[in-house]
Amino acid sequence: MTARIIDGKLIAAELRARVADEVARVQREHDLTPGLAVVLVGNDPASEVYVRSKHKQTQAAGMASFEHVLPADVTQEKLIGLIGRLNRDPAVHGILVQLPLPKGLDTEAVIAAIDPAKDVDGLHPNNAGRLAGGLPALSPCTPLGCIILTKSIHESLEGMDALVIGRSNLVGRPLVQLLLNENATVTIAHSRSRDLPDLCRRADLVYAAVGKPEMVRGDWIKPGATVIDVGITRLPSDDGKTRLVGDVAFTEALAIAGAITPVPGGVGQMTVACLLVNTLRAACAIRGLPPPAV
Ligand code: GUN
Repeated sequence: MTARIIDGKLIAAELRARVADEVARVQREHDLTPGLAVVLVGNDPASEVYVRSKHKQTQAAGMASFEHVLPADVTQEKLIGLIGRLNRDPAVHGILVQLPLPKGLDTEAVIAAIDPAKDVDGLHPNNAGRLAGGLPALSPCTPLGCIILTKSIHESLEGMDALVIGRSNLVGRPLVQLLLNENATVTIAHSRSRDLPDLCRRADLVYAAVGKPEMVRGDWIKPGATVIDVGITRLPSDDGKTRLVGDVAFTEALAIAGAITPVPGGVGQMTVACLLVNTLRAACAIRGLPPPAV
């Protein structure tokens, strides 16, 4: 048996098209153009690629995109001053500060300076706390994407055993909360967990989000399980170029899982699509409009 490959590229394209339709509708009916501001500090090459992609896809969805690039040695005051201006700017409905920030900047303080209503990354303690309390909140984009991909396979996650490997604020922790909202039974594993292969073998749904290439082996997977691979590491390949590798040994897992996301072409595409969803939702909420249909 071979697992079904979950086509994140296609699912993300469909989601972006639905966002674009809703953006056109709020523009037509309410004269509202959702706007996303992305702040990039320094010149980390991977971050530059992400930010360029966010900019292009935001514009393609019909939204306004504002890019702010600051030097790596910018002061904390200057960065927080920019966030304050974006908080007050009525054309901006979403603010994203690309992470990781260069050394010397206080990430927690920077995130706390973002207006929670514009926090489309869902990282502000208000949003993280609301999500943990089961209240409506802006939720981090990658976990939202993971849930959408899972639901492309399973209509309902109720009662399923889910294992989340990784406990970061950006992925693992919020993913646990979203899975609980879907009534899954959730286990969260991390670097100190004992017998990870055994935990994995019990799971109907496996989410690998640790950034360790091919850590999850094929014989850890329960036959027929759904595997969502959030990891993305660039490794040198035999031809002298580089290749992207997930946290799951893909070829091994393919023979055992019921469904699996590839890397690239799985979760990665969903993150930016969900960022557009969050920006549209934030714009409607700030304007006092009902939530959009995506
Ligand atoms: N760096 C890698 N992924 C993300 C993300 O989802 N949001 C932000 N702000 N930075 C990131």
